[in-house]
Amino acid sequence: MAEDQEVQQEAGVNGDQIEGTGRNEETQEENRWTDELAERLNILHNATMRTGRVTNADLYEAYRVSLEAERPNRIHMFYAFGLVLFVMVATPILCEVFQFLLGVRCFVPNNYLVWEATRPISDCRFCRGVRGPLVLHNLTREQFAPFAYSSQPIIIKGAVSHWPAAKKLNYEYLKELYESVPGALDEDCQFLHFRSDFMTLRDVFQMSEERAKFADGNQPWYVGWSNCHPVILSELRKLYPRPHFLPEDAEMPNTDYVFLGYEQGAIMHLDYIPRLMWQAQLQGNKSWVLAPTPECDQVCHSFSFYVEPGDAVLVDTRIWYHGTSIPKGQFALTIQSEYG
Ligand SMILES: [Fe+2]
Repeated sequence: MAEDQEVQQEAGVNGDQIEGTGRNEETQEENRWTDELAERLNILHNATMRTGRVTNADLYEAYRVSLEAERPNRIHMFYAFGLVLFVMVATPILCEVFQFLLGVRCFVPNNYLVWEATRPISDCRFCRGVRGPLVLHNLTREQFAPFAYSSQPIIIKGAVSHWPAAKKLNYEYLKELYESVPGALDEDCQFLHFRSDFMTLRDVFQMSEERAKFADGNQPWYVGWSNCHPVILSELRKLYPRPHFLPEDAEMPNTDYVFLGYEQGAIMHLDYIPRLMWQAQLQGNKSWVLAPTPECDQVCHSFSFYVEPGDAVLVDTRIWYHGTSIPKGQFALTIQSEYG
C-alpha cells in the first residue's frame, strides 16, 4: 500500500511538472506573438508617419474614439431611463386628467364639445323674427294647445305656483330625502356641478350648514342632477304633478332634473335631449339668455328675460343656445323635465 502511495505521489509531482512545463511554453508563445505584433505595428506606425499625412494627434484621436465606441452610451441610457420613468409617472396622472375632462365631472358638461362638433346645421326658421319669449298667463290645456310644440320660447306666468313643491321643496328637504333612502346617493344619475367645486351629489349634501345657506364668507354654489332613482322620483313627484297645460298625449321621461343654488347658473350651451323642455321656477328669480345657433346669426337675434317663482318656462333647448344666472346673493330652485 505504502509503495502504491509513493508511486501515486511521484506520478502527481511529475504530472504537475509536465503541466507547468506546458503552461510555460504557452506563455512564451504568447509573448513571442505579442512582440512580433508590436514590432509589425511599430513598422506600420513609422511607415505611416513617414507619409506625412497622419500626425500623432490624429492617431491619438482615433484611439480615443475607439475607446468611446466600446463604452456604453451613458447619455442615451440616461434619457431612456428618464423617458421610462416619465411614462410610468405621467400615464396615471394624464389618465385621471382625461377622465376628469371628458367625464361627468367635467368643466364643460359631459360630452358638450363632441355634441357641438357633430350637431346638424340649423334651419333658421325656428328663430327668424323671434325677439323675446311669448308671455302667457296661466291657461288651460286647450288654450295652450296652439303653442304646445312651438320653437318660440314661452313663459306661462303663475302656472306652477299652486304646486306643493313651491312651498315644501328646498335644500334640507332634498338632503333628508336622499339620506333616508338607502343607495339613493350611490345611483349613477347625471350630476352637473357647473362652476361649483362639488363632484357628486353626496358632496352637495355634506357641505356645512353655513355654506348651504350661503352665509357670509362662504362660496356660492349651484348644481343640478337627474333624479333617476325610482324611489326619489316617486317621492318628489308627490310634490308636483304633470304640468296641467301640456297636451294629454305628450310623452314624459322617466327622470326629471333638479337645479338649485346661489348666484351662479349654466353657461351658454345646447341640450342634447330627445324632447322639448319645460322648467318650473319654484323659488327665486332666474335670468335666461337665449341665442340662435351661429349659422343663424345673420337672420335671428339673441335676447334675455327672467322668470319669477311660480312661472313655467318652455324653450326648445336643443336649438336655442341658452345660459342662466341667478341674481347676486339669491337662491333659486327649479324642476325641469321634457315632453314631446
Ligand atoms: Fe340646458
